[in-house]
Amino acid sequence: MDLELDGKRALVTGASKGIGLSLTRALAEHGVHVVAASRSRTRELADLVDGLGVVHQEVDLGSEGGAARAVQRVVDEFGGIDILINNVGSSAPGAGFLSLSDDDWNAAWEINFLSAVRACRSAVPLMVDAGGGSIVNITSLNSRQPHPMVVDYGVTKAALTNFTKALSEEFAPRGVRVNAIAPGFVRTPMWTAPGGFGDRVAELTGSRDASDAIEKAAPEMLGITVGRFAEPEELCGLALLLASDRGAMMTGSEYLVDGGASKTL
Ligand SMILES: NC(=O)c1ccc[n+]([C@@H]2O[C@H](COP(=O)([O-])OP(=O)(O)OC[C@H]3O[C@@H](n4cnc5c(N)ncnc54)[C@H](OP(=O)(O)O)[C@@H]3O)[C@@H](O)[C@H]2O)c1
Repeated sequence: MDLELDGKRALVTGASKGIGLSLTRALAEHGVHVVAASRSRTRELADLVDGLGVVHQEVDLGSEGGAARAVQRVVDEFGGIDILINNVGSSAPGAGFLSLSDDDWNAAWEINFLSAVRACRSAVPLMVDAGGGSIVNITSLNSRQPHPMVVDYGVTKAALTNFTKALSEEFAPRGVRVNAIAPGFVRTPMWTAPGGFGDRVAELTGSRDASDAIEKAAPEMLGITVGRFAEPEELCGLALLLASDRGAMMTGSEYLVDGGASKTL
């Protein structure tokens, strides 16, 4: 099926690695003009800049003006914005509710929730004026399934899920569809980087290291029915469909992609 994405203009936030990098690559391979926003330019992102014409916007999306600058870059480069993927998010294994200060909570709100709010505030009027657009927010299984190790993260992701529906209610009648993808467990630096969730699960399960934990102990411990983590590329098909006009009847929904980890419908 031709998703008819060729020539569309997109912003992907948090695009230097992990899921955002894969989404950027998939969109660019489908002919979309993409601005990829992140603080750093990894070798993999540099390859997309060189090979597929992706534009890198270096920006801290946890800062007040960051998201607006990233949206403006899409307009400056391509003359408008059709697709906004609010992918940026951050979490590290925590020590439970009592370990979290106000600063920790504020940081979680800034990066997991307000970054998307601010990007939407800049992009939605442009999309409405142009007759439509598609917004995809990357939430999490933790939006629905809280866990003491990620209390602040889960709460801010749940807010993003709620925001997705509210925005759809207000703007889908004016052509702007808004959806969310809730990944379960995806093999990205969030899991594989030193001090990430892989190391913590390795500690808890006596695994050799993070990669051993992700391969073996974690899928069972986390109840992932298919028996393994997702690769970032496995989120792209759904994201492309939501971004495309082929998904014209899809709005106001959150789609779980969790290999069966959630035990409710
Ligand atoms: N991996 C999972 O299992 C999983 C599960 C559920 C939901 N998710 C969600 O999926 C999204 C992507 O996760 P991921 O696993 O791909 O994360 P990741 O591997 O940690 O990558 C995060 C990306 O966001 C960028 N970023 C972080 N802070 C930033 C900031 N202040 N300003 C600009 N860019 C920033 C990073 O680039 P720089 O460091 O270069 O800025 C990087 O490109 C997140 O919203 C996450 O919550 C992930």
